[in-house]
Amino acid sequence: MPIVAPSFLAADFLHLDKACEMVNQSEAEWFHLDVMDGRFVPNISFGIPVISAIRKTTTKVCDVHLMIEEPEKYAEAFKAAGADVLTVHAEACKHLHRNLQQIKDLGMKAGIALNPQTPISMIDEVLAGADLVCIMTVNPGFGGQKFIHSMLKKVESLKESIIKKGTNTLIEIDGGVTLDNAADLVRAGADVLVAGNTVFAANDPMAVIAALKAIR
Ligand code: DX5
Ligand code: ZN
Repeated sequence: MPIVAPSFLAADFLHLDKACEMVNQSEAEWFHLDVMDGRFVPNISFGIPVISAIRKTTTKVCDVHLMIEEPEKYAEAFKAAGADVLTVHAEACKHLHRNLQQIKDLGMKAGIALNPQTPISMIDEVLAGADLVCIMTVNPGFGGQKFIHSMLKKVESLKESIIKKGTNTLIEIDGGVTLDNAADLVRAGADVLVAGNTVFAANDPMAVIAALKAIR
């Protein structure tokens, strides 16, 4: 059964309290917050003060996905805002090993996100130091995009490599996750399913979360 992480990027920003309440009452164990800087990705979303506010009313694990340049400058601020998992992009980090260590030293779980074009071999040497690897199954920057089907193979290879190394690294899938592709993803090795539009655009978000959670 995967961990389900609804992405607030697809929530109604005028009523974030309602989104928090829904997630609290749902079977989702995590919630996913997408931070964009307009430099690493061609979009700007929300930042530290919004996360602090959301954090105050949520009881679940706060999973922050940084789509920003120089994430090391802000790790401490995201910890103070309430992040439990902090994920940085391999493509944005000149010193990924150091960045992961910094996040762990601050008391958070450290994640690495990979854009669709980035091979998993790029993080082979630092995999043991990552609590989570986020496979982007769309190009980061926007919600509601179409799942890139060829990423399934990448998930399978990552799973193999995690098993071979014997690490406890979780595999998170981010982008275009639906009730139609979720089972294939879990079979390929996914541990955490991020879902934005699939959850928040549904008539019954809690039922969709339950359906994702029930996948084996
Ligand atoms: C995209 C973000 C995703 C996004 C997913 O850059 O990282 O977390 O919210 O949205 P959906 O599930 O709608 O593709
Ligand atoms: Zn994300």
